[in-house]
Amino acid sequence: MASFEWQVHNPSGHRRVIVTKELPGRRWRDILTAADCRVEICTASDILPGAAIDQALAPRCDGAIGQLTEPWDEDRFRALKAAGGRAYSNYAVGYNNVDVAAATRQGIPVGNTPGVLTETTAQMAVALTFAAARRIGEAERYLRAGRYRGWLPSLFLGELLWRKTVGVIGAGRIGEAYACMMAEGHKMNVIYYDIHPNERLEAQVDAYADFLVAQGRAPITCTRAVTVEDLLEAADCVSIHTVLDETTQHLINAERLACMKPNAVVVNTSRGPVIDEAALVDHCRSHPDFRAGLDVFENEPDMAPGLDQLDNVVIVPHIASATRWTREGMATLAAANVAGLLMGYPIWNRTDIRAFLEGDLPTVTPSILNAPELGLTMVT
Ligand code: DGY
Repeated sequence: MASFEWQVHNPSGHRRVIVTKELPGRRWRDILTAADCRVEICTASDILPGAAIDQALAPRCDGAIGQLTEPWDEDRFRALKAAGGRAYSNYAVGYNNVDVAAATRQGIPVGNTPGVLTETTAQMAVALTFAAARRIGEAERYLRAGRYRGWLPSLFLGELLWRKTVGVIGAGRIGEAYACMMAEGHKMNVIYYDIHPNERLEAQVDAYADFLVAQGRAPITCTRAVTVEDLLEAADCVSIHTVLDETTQHLINAERLACMKPNAVVVNTSRGPVIDEAALVDHCRSHPDFRAGLDVFENEPDMAPGLDQLDNVVIVPHIASATRWTREGMATLAAANVAGLLMGYPIWNRTDIRAFLEGDLPTVTPSILNAPELGLTMVT
């Protein structure tokens, strides 16, 4: 097995915490130092194999911060437990890489980092929507290749989304933020699909429609779709914001792509396996006016054969949450999760986590997924 370098921060700390990647910012290290932790940070950019993580956990480890690229499964939590571990946080809001039930069986609380990714990720979804609809990637490649010979009436004609319909699959915090950006910025009607109604989203769009009417402009609407197909048929662009689980794996498949308008745009900033990527390649090949904007891929870092050859697909390498503020905020929350658990602080689990991001750290643990199952004390 390849060996990986680990950098030690606060070597005299009495609790040992491993962090499987260098994280941005300083606050997260200060939080762990204040909790009397010796912090060991893997400096490699390669994805750590499970065996390397297990090796790093032994012989004694109080807590760990891991990445969405690593499987935190039964074996890993058993290794953490055997090392005396009491705390784990994913450096991500998504946790499809974590077997939370296995962690619960081992008695280990699992944290994540909600609240700081919302606007950042929604903005990337907006960027991908327009990059795809307005053919930014293609046009830039053309220009850089020295092929531009002057303005032409039909050079890179794209789609105008103004006053059309935006579909949002998964109307949680990020989906809601994206919907509002598209509704308010581009006066689009919203159709969303979610197992739960999002009354706050509906109220926001309704209030904005009233504002438009008060200005003598046409209103917009917000509708909850009964089926995914209803949404796909109606929308001019569709952005995916679901979690990945067994119910959303390949939610967008060949049949559902066939429901979409031939010149629609599909955007994915959630998790790659929500789209059947091979089916998307086939669909984009046979529908040149259809466009996709992808931040995530089914088998990252690989892509389905042919995807990167398609001019009607815009691709970026899983950077939807990559703003300095967000990534530093994620580090702060992950560290506060581990430190809070090791210090025995109660669990906060509330949506507004801004109090953790600057000034004195609240004496609560920001976000623990299996707190109820483990009977941890929650802030009332
Ligand atoms: C997350 O936190 O789940 C994101 O995918 C990271 O970009």
